[in-house]
This record gives sequence, C-alpha cells and structure tokens, in this order.
Amino acid sequence: MARVGVSLEGRGEVHLQRFAVTFDYPVCFTENVFDPDNTLLATILARREPERRHRTVVFLDRGVAEARPELPAEIAAYARRHAARMELAAPPCILPGGEQVKTDLFFLEQIMRHLFDHHIDRQSFVIAIGGGALLDAVGLVAATTHRGVRLVRLPTTVLAQNDSGVGVKNGVNLRGVKNFIGTFHPPFAVINDIAFIDTLPAREKIAGMAEAVKVALIRDRAFFHWLEANADRLAAFDRAAMARMIRRSAEIHMRQIAEGGDPFEFGSVRPLDFGHWAAHRLEMLTRGHLRHGEAVAIGIALDARYSVTTGLLEAGLEERICVLLEHLGLRLWHPALEMRGADGRLLLLEGLSEFREHLGGELTVTLLADLGRGVEVHRMDEARILEAVAWLRARAG
Ligand SMILES: NC(=O)c1ccc[n+]([C@@H]2O[C@H](COP(=O)([O-])OP(=O)(O)OC[C@H]3O[C@@H](n4cnc5c(N)ncnc54)[C@H](O)[C@@H]3O)[C@@H](O)[C@H]2O)c1
Ligand SMILES: [Zn+2]
Repeated sequence: MARVGVSLEGRGEVHLQRFAVTFDYPVCFTENVFDPDNTLLATILARREPERRHRTVVFLDRGVAEARPELPAEIAAYARRHAARMELAAPPCILPGGEQVKTDLFFLEQIMRHLFDHHIDRQSFVIAIGGGALLDAVGLVAATTHRGVRLVRLPTTVLAQNDSGVGVKNGVNLRGVKNFIGTFHPPFAVINDIAFIDTLPAREKIAGMAEAVKVALIRDRAFFHWLEANADRLAAFDRAAMARMIRRSAEIHMRQIAEGGDPFEFGSVRPLDFGHWAAHRLEMLTRGHLRHGEAVAIGIALDARYSVTTGLLEAGLEERICVLLEHLGLRLWHPALEMRGADGRLLLLEGLSEFREHLGGELTVTLLADLGRGVEVHRMDEARILEAVAWLRARAG
C-alpha cells in the first residue's frame, strides 16, 4: 500500500487510495435519428452487449412533442423495426421543457418514478430528447438511479447541441439557485440530430449561436473567421451552415473536457465560461427574461471591451466582435446592465463574487488577448467594467 506523498498530521497510519477511471462516449451528428433506416441509435444501444435486447425508456421535451406530434409514433415504429436490439418499456414520458422541469422537484420525482415503474437497470437505457433543461433534469436522475444508469442524450436546441449536451454535467435548481443540485456523469452517447433544430423557435436558435462565437473567440481564430464569413447564412438559419457551426463548437467543447485537464471542475477555472460572469448575473437580474445565450452575447461584448481597455486586446476588435454578434441577431444592450442597489452600486458587479463562489477558490475570469485566444485573469477592475457598460450603452444609442 502506498504511503501518502503529502504530509498529513495526526496520530495513526495513512494509506493513499488512488485509481483512475476512463470514460468514453460517442458524440454523433446525424439527420432524422428515428428514420427506421437510420441504424445509428440501434447500433449505439448495442455497443456494449450486441446480443442483448435493451430495455429503454424515453423522456421527451413538451416543446419538441408539440412541434412534432408524430414523434412518439415514429419512436415506437423505430423500436419495432430494431426490436432485436431495443425494447421500448413504455410510450415516451412527456415533460415540460425549459427551466420549469429543473425548478419544480415534482418533475424530478416523476422521472424517478418512471424509471422505477419500468424496471430500468444498469444495462437499460434512458433516452432524453430535449433542450438543455430537460437533459439536465433527466441526467441527474439517470446519474443517481441505481447509482447511475445509461443515458443517451438527444439534444434538440442549438445550445444543447453545440455546448451543454455534449458535456458531462447535469443539475436542477433549488430555492432559486441555478444548478444547486447536480453531478458530473458522462453520458453513454450523444446524438445531435440537425432535424430537431428545424422546429426550434427563432429566438432560441439565435441565442444558441452566442456559444459558438464564444468558443471561437477563446479557442479558434479560423472558426471566428468562418462565422464572420457565414453570418448571413447563419442569420437565415441555413441548415448546412447551422450544422457546421454546431459541429465545430461541439468539437471544441469535447476537446476541452478531454484534454483541458479538469473535466470534473475541481479547480477554480472554467476556461470555456468567457462572458459568463456577467451573463449569469444578467439572467438572474432579468428573472430569466434574457435567454442564456442572449445574456452570454452581452457578456462577451462587455468582456471584449474590457479586454481592450486593459490593453490585452487590440482596439477595434471589440467592435468587430459586436458586429458579428449583431449580424447573427443578438442584441448587446439590456437595461439590467445599469440596475443599481440601494447603495447605488451596479448590481451587475455582484456577478463577479457569485462567479467565484460557484467554483470556490480564487476569482478566475477569461478575457481575450486576440481573436481565438482567451487568457485568464484573477482581478477585474470596477471602473473599467463601468466604462465597458457605458460603451455598450453608447453603441446601442
Ligand atoms: N449541463 C450543462 O453543462 C449545461 C451547460 C449550459 C447550460 N445548461 C442548461 O441548459 C438550460 C438551457 O437549455 P436550452 O437553451 O437548450 O433551452 P431549454 O431547455 O430551456 O429549452 C428552451 C425551450 O425550447 C423548447 N424546445 C427545445 N427543443 C425544441 C425543438 N427542437 N423544437 C421546439 N421547441 C423546442 C423547450 O420546450 C423550451 O420551451 C439551462 O437550464 C442551463 O442551465 C446546462
Ligand atoms: Zn453558456
């Protein structure tokens, strides 16, 4: 038994327990996943035990179910066609989409009940079809039922396909605090079906694109140029352009999780959360009236301007970033930026301490040193933040 390398004080003997667990999961990009001739899903379910017929339950976002009323029948037909590999234990369980499913614990219990009633075991499958909120709620139950059952995610929003859905986290809200309860639980597989994006409301499509601009800015200059060159097509929701944008963003996220050195966020750094300290605060201040991506766009613009005023980023690039975001349909001003508390201080500024508290440890904010290059700083200057807010107001006219 290994002795502990670090010095521990106290009486007795200390042995260091240490092991590593490797995770892998396919992230697939397809079109019409429930077309009976598309064998992708059936193949994924059979990946570990090809001879077994897998018991499966499906959770479906009500927004998707309403936009595609024929979907439950299509899922049933798919299961019949691939009956050698999958067995649908029940018709899809339809849950509300959006924050509601993460906020009311009633739904959490409903999801648990469904797994209990249909005898889902550790080799059965939970398929979650929906936006990031539904994936988070179902993901939490899947991670804790029998200490973890297999979850296949089918994200149906731009944000979930290019960002949250390919990652390793889940969570629900408690007493108004977002994601207060949650775990890190890698999925069994992720299937991004571009056809789901067709029925997504325009506002949601636009909001999700902010995350693509974000990852391009901090990680991939060529992707930023591509977004600029294709902004017209993206703004018109051209399917091929949307698919490519989603795929590249998802790839960058995947690489960060696999190679960034901290997939379960033990440290104080969240390298991909550029623009997010202000975004999370704005979401709270507007009580959810701003969609996450809409708030992220404003946060990006703010931190880009801030990066310029500190001399990190070349002047003029912040304007170029704003022009791209606006071209995609995002608005870069909201009155909540100037909301003040009783002491006259901008309420926005509390976003910094909240951001630090969520991860614990030292404040770490990502700024820009160039297009495609994020850098981490541990201090933010209030006067400069105020200047950036004033700049955004002046731009908005
Ligand atoms: N786990 C993570 O790592 C992570 C990361 C980022 C965000 N999130 C979470 O994701 C959530 C936001 O997710 P989101 O932006 O994907 O949106 P969402 O889940 O809030 O859904 C938005 C709306 O779109 C509807 N909808 C979804 N797909 C549709 C479709 N294809 N057609 C028609 N309507 C559809 C939903 O019913 C809902 O009304 C937040 O709760 C956020 O905390 C999680
Ligand atoms: Zn985000």
